[in-house]
Amino acid sequence: MTHSYDSGSRPLTDVNYQAANAPYGSNNYNESTGYLPPQKPKKGLSNWIKFGIPVLIIVIAGAVVGGIVGSKKSNKSAAASGGSGGGNNPGAASSAISAKSAIGRFATATDTNYFMPVYPSTTNTAAFTTPTFVQTTNANIAWPADPFKPANPSPTTVRTDRPRLIAPAYKWAALPNLIKNDPYLSGWNDTIFGNASAYYPMPPVAYVVDGASGILDVSRSVKMRLKAFAYVYRMTNDTKWVDRAWSELQNAASFGPSDDKWNSGHFLDVAEMTAAFGIAYDWLYDVWTSDQKNQIKQAILTYGLTFGLNAQTNTSIGWWTTNVNGNWNCVCNGGLTIGALAILGDDTSGMATQILGVTVDNAKANCALGPSTDGTWSETANYWYFGTTGHAEMSSALLTATGSHYGLVDTNQNFHLTGLFHMYATGPTSLFNYGDHGPNKYSTTANAMLFYAEQYQTPEYALFQRDQHDAPEPWSMFWYDPTVSGAFWNGLPLDHFFDDGLDQWTSMRSSWTDNDSLYVAMKAGKNQGHQTHNDLDCGDFVLDAMGTRWAGELGSGDYLSPGYFSSDAQDSQRWLYYRKRTEGQNTILVNKQNQNVGAAPTVKHETTGEAQGSSTVYQDPGTSTAYWIADLSSAYADTSSFSRGVRMINGRKQVLIQDDITTTSALQWRMHTNATVSINGATATLTIGSDTMQVQILSPSGATFGQGPAQRDAADPTPPEADQPNPGVTVLTIDLAAGNYNLEVLFNPQWSGFSSFKTPPSVPLSGWTLTSHD
Ligand SMILES: *[C@@H]1O[C@H](CO)[C@@H](O)[C@H](O)[C@H]1NC(C)=O
Ligand SMILES: *[C@@H]1O[C@H](CO)[C@@H](O)[C@H](O)[C@H]1NC(C)=O
Ligand SMILES: *[C@@H]1O[C@H](CO)[C@@H](O)[C@H](O)[C@H]1NC(C)=O
Ligand SMILES: *[C@@H]1O[C@H](CO)[C@@H](O)[C@H](O)[C@H]1NC(C)=O
Ligand SMILES: *[C@@H]1O[C@H](CO)[C@@H](O)[C@H](O)[C@H]1NC(C)=O
Ligand SMILES: *[C@@H]1O[C@H](CO)[C@@H](O)[C@H](O)[C@H]1NC(C)=O
Repeated sequence: MTHSYDSGSRPLTDVNYQAANAPYGSNNYNESTGYLPPQKPKKGLSNWIKFGIPVLIIVIAGAVVGGIVGSKKSNKSAAASGGSGGGNNPGAASSAISAKSAIGRFATATDTNYFMPVYPSTTNTAAFTTPTFVQTTNANIAWPADPFKPANPSPTTVRTDRPRLIAPAYKWAALPNLIKNDPYLSGWNDTIFGNASAYYPMPPVAYVVDGASGILDVSRSVKMRLKAFAYVYRMTNDTKWVDRAWSELQNAASFGPSDDKWNSGHFLDVAEMTAAFGIAYDWLYDVWTSDQKNQIKQAILTYGLTFGLNAQTNTSIGWWTTNVNGNWNCVCNGGLTIGALAILGDDTSGMATQILGVTVDNAKANCALGPSTDGTWSETANYWYFGTTGHAEMSSALLTATGSHYGLVDTNQNFHLTGLFHMYATGPTSLFNYGDHGPNKYSTTANAMLFYAEQYQTPEYALFQRDQHDAPEPWSMFWYDPTVSGAFWNGLPLDHFFDDGLDQWTSMRSSWTDNDSLYVAMKAGKNQGHQTHNDLDCGDFVLDAMGTRWAGELGSGDYLSPGYFSSDAQDSQRWLYYRKRTEGQNTILVNKQNQNVGAAPTVKHETTGEAQGSSTVYQDPGTSTAYWIADLSSAYADTSSFSRGVRMINGRKQVLIQDDITTTSALQWRMHTNATVSINGATATLTIGSDTMQVQILSPSGATFGQGPAQRDAADPTPPEADQPNPGVTVLTIDLAAGNYNLEVLFNPQWSGFSSFKTPPSVPLSGWTLTSHD
């Protein structure tokens, strides 16, 4: 193979090449604010209309009636387990292919406010079938088997061909054909080419130290770009992408301080850069000159693995190696592992072997414990992205390079539930985004769902993720199994209760596919044990309806604020900041005090148990309901008893939130909203755009709403640094004197064309049943 470099082999440490301090980007991708909003949906006929539903029904009905849409064993499936029978039937494969190309992608667009998939309002029992993987070896639809199957895998014994990380050669060879036959792979491939072309003319990512997260954004941007450049090179054989990757590598190996370039004091930065260099080294292995290879390898060793070994003994850089079941452990071990696997065999220092001797076991003892027994990620729903990306990258790299994940995927027997956690935490507008949100998501996505779908044989995970806006990137091209078919919502229960004591919470909705649907999620759980990324927020909730978030979260404070991460003890400075204290949550405040950090709530719940069917148009039966009650007494002082309940009312058209509480101090009900609030006694009218939500106090009589700004009470202790303002946010309040109450608040979204609202009877939480409010 011949190729030319525009620049010859520039040394990695050529600082002159750092002509890179120009502001980012001549295009409109914004490096500092993360993803651009996806482009407006293209006008024009979708494939739905072009091909016509009737034709489709005939095509797929054949497959279904013939009983040939198979299913791999799906006993860990998120919903009902997969379809019937199985078998390697060529007819099934060809039906599946024609169905795929006739349908195109299920989601027809992304909504402009929240980038959520918009599904067509269609009943299509032929296309929207039970989630399954079609059993076939047809090369137009299925990956070939990996020829590398070592009998006794070892983390330091790697396959002999390149690439070895995540995307082995046999997958690159199969990919073009799969792309031609799969609308998702085809669309993602286009997007990756588009993204790589957008990065191409930009100067290499500049070294910008952000006090809060060091050079993490820099490392992740470099990783995102290198993945895209290497991908496009391998798909085109055009060496201009290799040259562009080289300039990015050179820059990132020369910027920063002389010795500790990748910022070991904030080890995520080292880990992500090491992963970026590892991928570039491995995916472009065949085209690098030996001089270039040496330089990339040396950078991995000098700025990455050396510090990785130091982390074993130097706790100031390696604190994440002990008792950290959060994203740090996954990302740090993952990056070091990828860097080490990339150079294993070429490294004569022995460091790569040494690193692999510690990272795998360390990740199994820490990272793998990220999900609790119910799948909830230990930190927050947003930190799930960082943790699972690190975990999936590390597991996938070990599997492809050495033939085993060594238990990383299943040593925690409940890890497979973490995809379920993500799906239920995703509301029709956005996440139940309690606690801290974390840094920008360069190179971090929810695409671990695609890897987990295959690892845990849970097709729902892939079917859910493939329609999301963050799906297109190189990992997806190799993690997605194109034999997956069906609709994730078909058979998926509307409600789920997560019962692990660390994060008890509930998710209830009226539909999985209607972007206007009703969604409420509420949490109890412990106020400690979340890597100090939580808020003091037992009883906190979010509520979506009519395509809008009505009750929402304030998100992270400033990570640089003094004391922000000091501890999760009761007297931590963290709890002085408005967004972290109980006052800043959608829950009850008693005597203006923070909740107890030692809270240990208990919960009970029931649901009528509806699951959505095949259609995207789901009509909830009038009797459909669910409720969840948390005893939150342990979270409060001055409170002899307190339970908070939430339930769906009137066939999931309304929501009731009820607090049965006895206090010896004044209490306040609080909810943060972006709406304009207009109050008339016990009724509040909330308006966002052209949508309206009525909120009514049903009990106690005489109680009225108030409203105020989203800021600390003047009498609160002062935090070390000013709070962030919360522009546009109003707090809806109800003030009550010390006493004993059944405080009942009813939410009536003013759905278009709907007026039959119910006023439910008043029932103490102890008397709630599935029929108590009919
Ligand atoms: C990649 O391209 C898509 C489509 O143009 C765009 O929506 C997305 O923001 C780009 N992603 C990145 C990370 O630049
Ligand atoms: C991938 O996308 C690029 C850009 O749209 C296109 O030129 C190429 O043909 C695609 N690859 C395949 C295998 O279809
Ligand atoms: C790139 O080169 C490889 C190895 O020679 C070859 O197998 C592949 O088909 C080529 N791809 C393209 C798009 O030319
Ligand atoms: C530990 O690592 C930090 C960050 O790299 C460094 O500043 C410090 O000197 C190291 N401590 C020891 C004892 O090596
Ligand atoms: C919901 O989807 C419909 C198309 O089905 C679209 O017209 C509407 O704007 C979407 N609503 C929101 C809030 O995005
Ligand atoms: C206000 O809207 C923004 C943007 O959609 C959202 O991130 C935030 O959570 C909302 N805040 C509240 C309190 O609903």
